[in-house]
Amino acid sequence: MPDGSLSAPGLAALVEPGRVHRRVYTDPAIFELEMERLFGCSWLYVGHASQVPNPGDFITTELGRQPVLMTRHHDGSVRVLHNRCTHRGVKLVAERSGNRKSLICLYHGWTFDSDGTLLRVPVDEGCAPGFRLCDFDLARAPRVGIHRGFVFASLATSGIEFDRWIDPMRRNIDDIVDRAPGGEIALDCGVHRYLFRGNWKMQVENVVDSYHVPFSHASTVNRQGVQFSRREGDREGAKVIEGSRTATQWKQRRGYAVGYGHGWTSNTELNEDARSSPAWNEYRQALAAAVGEARAEQILAPRMHNSMLYPNASFMGLNMHIRVIKPLAVDLTEVNVYPIRLVGAPDAINVRNTRLLNVTHAAASFVQSDDVEAFGRAQAGLASRASEWIDISRGLGREETLAPAPGSGEPPVLAGPSTDEAIVRGQFKAWLSYMCAA
Ligand code: FES
Ligand SMILES: [Fe+2]
Repeated sequence: MPDGSLSAPGLAALVEPGRVHRRVYTDPAIFELEMERLFGCSWLYVGHASQVPNPGDFITTELGRQPVLMTRHHDGSVRVLHNRCTHRGVKLVAERSGNRKSLICLYHGWTFDSDGTLLRVPVDEGCAPGFRLCDFDLARAPRVGIHRGFVFASLATSGIEFDRWIDPMRRNIDDIVDRAPGGEIALDCGVHRYLFRGNWKMQVENVVDSYHVPFSHASTVNRQGVQFSRREGDREGAKVIEGSRTATQWKQRRGYAVGYGHGWTSNTELNEDARSSPAWNEYRQALAAAVGEARAEQILAPRMHNSMLYPNASFMGLNMHIRVIKPLAVDLTEVNVYPIRLVGAPDAINVRNTRLLNVTHAAASFVQSDDVEAFGRAQAGLASRASEWIDISRGLGREETLAPAPGSGEPPVLAGPSTDEAIVRGQFKAWLSYMCAA
């Protein structure tokens, strides 16, 4: 690697307006820097509060590659703690989820409360003079932010405030949560987990990429060019292909790059009048009973397909789930897909959503497996030195700039067809600002 290639000018040279250097996907040194400067500083999705409903509940996860715990403390609050014993550094909790009255390290038995407080150490007469329990609490994530049960943390003590960072995506989160007659969602229907041999950014880009769908997922559309139904009550899904070309309806989807690397794509219009099934009708009634007819109609008007909370989580409005993207190595990524349960909706609605995800987003499903294959081939192709550059120029220069609401302080939105690559360019803009902010 040439000297200075990881300096700010060296990194800036990797991202041009319509293309990025292949090293951003292949260079282990850049990956290490991403873990430090991007995942070590930005706000990251940790989990959903519904995963720890009771005092003592926990989940374990990683922020970047740092192991953390999300717990429900006995005062009802949700805590984000480093999963590292303060004695000799052992990972405190190995399970992915569970409930414990206290967290006991398997090595020498140091015992912590669910807020990270060190409660006791065995054989305490052996402690060094001046040893104080309070100096050995678990390290806590310095900043935690929660919106509608979505829990985020930053491992940095300073940086953009949570409210500013989440504001452009708040409405999209509300869009999903408001669909629940009970006013909240729960991630308690299991998880699909897959690993792929590719860089984490491939998945981050893919969730807001409508360009690939008619090709990568061609095997899931019928002779009329229509994909199978992915929502309860629909007889069929969106028209994806017309003859041998991408369907007009598909090309009318919109993409929005909303700042901080976040972005989302709108839905493809489906026939809302024809949407009907006993479960769907029962659900509409339950929602209308909870929020009124007019509000229920607003909530049920489809607006969004996928939303990407840069850099590590996305959620989908069509068949509802939250997806968490975990970089493991420069060419290895883990993805966890959690079905969303709408609290207060009829069981049939939630069961059907989960079943649809088995078909679309499990590791061996009809849709996700196509993407995983594409990611692996992309990583393999990037080993080629035939070109050093990756093109992301679709729609460059013809994005529509939407001014933010006056006084909102939000960044302007770049909008265009979701088959364009404006959101990916927005991601790299954010990437560069983190990577060069040393
Ligand atoms: S390493 Fe945890 S108690 Fe010793
Ligand atoms: Fe896909």
